Amino acid sequence: MDKIVINGGTPLVGSIEVSGMKNAALAVIMGCLLVEDKCIIENLPDINDVRLSLDILAHMGAKIRLIANDTYEIDTTNAIGGTSPLELVRRMRGSSYLIGAELGRFNRSHVGYPGGCDFGVRPIDQHIKGFEALGASVNVESGYIDATAENGLTAANIYFDLVTVGATINVILAAVKAKGTTVIENAAREPHVVDLANFLNSCGAKITGAGTDVIKIKGVEQLHGCTYAIIPDMIEAGTYMIAAAATGGKLKINNIIPKHLESISAKLEEMGVTVEEDDEYVIVSRQNKLNRANVKTLPYPGFPTDLQPQIAVLLCLADGVSILSESVWDNRFRYTEELRRMGAEIKVDGKTAIIEGGAPLSAAAVKATDLRAGAAMVIAGLAIEGRTEIEEIQLIERGYVDIVGKLRAVGADIKKISYPDPVSYGKAN
Ligand code: EPZ
Repeated sequence: MDKIVINGGTPLVGSIEVSGMKNAALAVIMGCLLVEDKCIIENLPDINDVRLSLDILAHMGAKIRLIANDTYEIDTTNAIGGTSPLELVRRMRGSSYLIGAELGRFNRSHVGYPGGCDFGVRPIDQHIKGFEALGASVNVESGYIDATAENGLTAANIYFDLVTVGATINVILAAVKAKGTTVIENAAREPHVVDLANFLNSCGAKITGAGTDVIKIKGVEQLHGCTYAIIPDMIEAGTYMIAAAATGGKLKINNIIPKHLESISAKLEEMGVTVEEDDEYVIVSRQNKLNRANVKTLPYPGFPTDLQPQIAVLLCLADGVSILSESVWDNRFRYTEELRRMGAEIKVDGKTAIIEGGAPLSAAAVKATDLRAGAAMVIAGLAIEGRTEIEEIQLIERGYVDIVGKLRAVGADIKKISYPDPVSYGKAN
């Protein structure tokens, strides 16, 4: 079993390079299935979820070639629909994009029900609503999703009941080659939705309005290959911005798009953190005590839910009572149990956490309860004097490129250790 071990209390000082964005990479990789040609995708982060997505396409007959650092050639010319392996598909939510991509290319799809981090219920009713509006019939049975459009897909006007990144991405994928112009209203505005649209437009698609809540997709007959670079990961960047603030250090975080970080920068400045911004980097530093604050997660451009556990750690370090409200997921506070082990005073009531910051925190043995919660445990370990051990770190490695290496390079006393799995004493005789 691997663990991350941190001796905390050292301010982080130095420069960190941000990698390509996980949630954009997953959408673009699955989008390659629509293209039936060679695509060169640059700035793909070397993380488990990207490797898993490439593996899935390879199992389907795509040819995947590493042609330079973080750059892959993905040729889906001979990919066969309906052949994605269930044991891989069910490991991540991003697999759900296979449904839209297969429908868009083959007018049919057969994909295992997607998995992903456990924040309570993760329905796909809006995805299905979109596919059915486009003329597909969808059946969920025996752990599989089967979608068929006998006469091909026809454009539709789709109004999502709530803002959903996944369903917005999936309907874009399905609609790219549908007959006519599809209009998605109440669409997600996240940067990775825009990144997917830009990639598909580079392949000859006709998508307008991505980044707003109304997206139009004019169906085209055929797509062609292209070369495309994935945007930088705003959640990785935000994680390191919060780590700099939590340790009272000074970090230059390179390869970012400032616009994507506006809500994080604003909240950190409200808490007394200094954020200097340039075109491609931010410098985050803190000399004074942290101010308490209230945070409410919202779809983009609001404060990202994927930085909720991380900012919770910072609120624990700020004197005073802070209110943290989670408006995207039903149950994204499981990690607070781990922070309580460290002495955090957090009361969770439904989708709101009341944090009594300033309580003395102590290093402890904790675990990652999901990807972003794991990153929050790393931040807590970095900020708190003493030895923190973190288990279940494979969850962190799903979404962070070399988190140990990047932090060591800016002064963290952090390492990854392999332990033998605890002996199972079996049943008493
Ligand atoms: C994506 O998940 C991200 N994952 C999540 O990031 C992120 O937290 C989330 O968007 C919100 O930004 C990927 O991109 C792979 P949603 P997704 O559809 O698409 C409800 C990370 O840490 N909903 O926007 O699954 C849903 O239950 C991960 O990188 C429906 O009710 O999120 C949730 O309450 C964790 N019906 C809300 O909408 C549906 O059909 C937002 O979900 C779909 C969603």
